[in-house]
Amino acid sequence: MSFNVLLLDNVNENCEEVFEECGITVHRNHNLSGQELYDEIKSYHGLVVRSATTVDADLLQAADNLKVVGRAGVGVDNIDIEEATARGILVMNTPDGNTISTAEHTCGMILALARNIPQSVNKVKNRGWDRKKYMGTEVQTKTLGIVGLGKIGSEVTKRMQQFGMEVKAYDPYASVEKAERLGVELTELDELLSTADFLTVHTPLTEKTKGLISMDNADKLKKGMFLVNCARGGIFKEDDLIPLIEEGYIAGVAVDSYSSEPPTDELYDLLDHPQIITTPHLGASTEEAQEKVAVQIARQMSDALEQKSFKGS
Ligand code: MLT
Repeated sequence: MSFNVLLLDNVNENCEEVFEECGITVHRNHNLSGQELYDEIKSYHGLVVRSATTVDADLLQAADNLKVVGRAGVGVDNIDIEEATARGILVMNTPDGNTISTAEHTCGMILALARNIPQSVNKVKNRGWDRKKYMGTEVQTKTLGIVGLGKIGSEVTKRMQQFGMEVKAYDPYASVEKAERLGVELTELDELLSTADFLTVHTPLTEKTKGLISMDNADKLKKGMFLVNCARGGIFKEDDLIPLIEEGYIAGVAVDSYSSEPPTDELYDLLDHPQIITTPHLGASTEEAQEKVAVQIARQMSDALEQKSFKGS
């Protein structure tokens, strides 16, 4: 049987090459949405997306021949897994292709926060000069709190330890051996919140992680700490970020991921605050990561379509 696959969301071109080497026909279309997508999807056996396309129940119901949906990335929150499973459609992701890129971006955000880099760049570009206002803080000897000591959290740990940070982590699933190997102290969440100078989250958005930091637990936070979210929007309650800053609980926030992307007008207003620094979900946006996830997803999906045993990346 011959198979064909639809690529959406600007998936890296190496994806095409791998599918074609496996004898699978590939069509690429970045601009399909709504009814056009529902009509088009009917003839495909495979669909590859990043985060821009929502693969919801309606789309899956229209996909008469679909056998596998591949997410070139980690998060599968844009795919209705329950509906896919009910229809016998396999959902695959690439759990580690963008680990290093996301970890590096997180480290960049920590340093950018500590040294007011985005704000001061902006100032100079607008012909301003203010060395006093942008006085920073060293990260050496400071405590980095990590929520989620998985692949990305571990890579952030190794890098920030090289900057002289002491790393503590909250992760109910991490073993003591792993923490020891990384030189990380495992703590309860409340202890992490009350001792970290910088706190970075590396978990999916779930009922447990949603609103992990908000005005409700502001009293538990170490006064003047910095927060970093390169994981999923909503882990820090977005509406509470300005009150947390204005009332002196936190010194600043770095945000790469938002509850709606691109942000709504209200969310943009909030992100205007000078102590909130932002990037447009760039954690995985490097040539290297995009090539890795594209190749990995194409290999996994080709094996699945051809019913070869496949191994995750
Ligand atoms: C992921 O889930 O892989 C990252 O958030 C990056 C992306 O959306 O591409």
